[in-house]
Amino acid sequence: MTVTCGTASFSTPRNRRLLDALEDNGIRPEVACRSGECGLCRVRVAEGTVHRAEEARPRLCDERFGYVHSCVSYPLTNVTLEV
Ligand code: FES
Repeated sequence: MTVTCGTASFSTPRNRRLLDALEDNGIRPEVACRSGECGLCRVRVAEGTVHRAEEARPRLCDERFGYVHSCVSYPLTNVTLEV
């Protein structure tokens, strides 16, 4: 899968968490729990499809506006993220 974030674009395996893929490439969202509970690692999915693990506790508006918790989300297609 190709992840595009700002001017960066890189490949990552489908089973790699978005947070790990971002960090592998020098992009460091705020993080705390790394388990889907705190919401600090939220990123907006501008394009593409992402699988969100059940442990994520999204805010009511997250889905409406395209936000996911990157620590428990995985790319299903090529994605464009806003961090
Ligand atoms: S770091 Fe807490 S939800 Fe991702």
